[in-house]
Amino acid sequence: MRRILQAVITTLFLLPVATHAASPDAASIAKQGLGDKIAPCSSCHGADGGGNSAAGFPRLAGLGKTYLAEQLDAFASGQRANAVMMPIAGAMSDEQRQAMAVYYSRLPVPTARSTGTDTGDIPAAGTALAEHGRWADGIPACVQCHGPAGVGVGEYFPPLAGQPAGYIEAQLRAWRTGKRPGGPMGLMASIASQLHDDDLAPVAAYFAAQTPATHKTEGDEHE
Ligand code: HEC
Ligand code: HEC
Repeated sequence: MRRILQAVITTLFLLPVATHAASPDAASIAKQGLGDKIAPCSSCHGADGGGNSAAGFPRLAGLGKTYLAEQLDAFASGQRANAVMMPIAGAMSDEQRQAMAVYYSRLPVPTARSTGTDTGDIPAAGTALAEHGRWADGIPACVQCHGPAGVGVGEYFPPLAGQPAGYIEAQLRAWRTGKRPGGPMGLMASIASQLHDDDLAPVAAYFAAQTPATHKTEGDEHE
């Protein structure tokens, strides 16, 4: 009886460990992908998670863990509609999506962009909108939430600095057409709906040309 009990207890203890060991860890999914279902994240988001400006793949390194996890869940559920990311996120378990979010949130923000940067001229209209907003239309300055030069603030306000211009513009359009969930309190859906079509490219150019912060902002230390 005692032996059986002991065996049961041992099995119970081993079970979670065994399942854990069987599922590849986040670093290996990032670098090698998952069988033929998931291409390595690094093939698009860069070996250092710094993204790829030319291709318009966003940086993931150093973004908030909660933010990243929510994006992966939204791709998996199809609420954030993107043909490339939906099948990738959908092929992962809840635990794997969470693990990927933790993994990328812990990677240091790349000091120099390995993939080049958008350093085109910043239209004055882009600077004005980003730094001062446009109160007549109820649009606050983007930097009020995204931090000075868009370096990002804590868990919920992602960095815009150095993200590819095409990516930033595509996100603003996605909110305007209901292809991306509004985020906390629907803030971005409402801001994007106030923007005019000809606001998008200038403000995207402004943030794409900013240098990603190399220091961690307050709040990033949260686990
Ligand atoms: C074939 C290229 C490709 C691969 C492989 C890929 N991604 Fe992506 N990823 C993209 C693209 C393109 C976007 C932008 C989607 C959009 O516009 O909504 C993106 C967006 C994201 C975002 C949203 C970032 C943000 O700032 O909101 C996250 C998170 C993400 N990917 C995580 C991953 C993870 C984790 C993996 C590996 C398991 C991965 N991606 C593999 C191309 C890729
Ligand atoms: C009131 C606060 C607030 C203001 C002001 C604001 N944002 Fe945001 N923004 C957010 C939040 C919160 C998110 C995260 C949304 C989510 O979780 O889906 C976000 C996300 C974004 C993203 C997606 C980043 C990524 O990695 O995918 C872009 C692009 C963006 N904002 C652009 C802008 C621009 C441009 C402006 C100014 C016109 C602006 N934001 C003003 C709160 C704000």
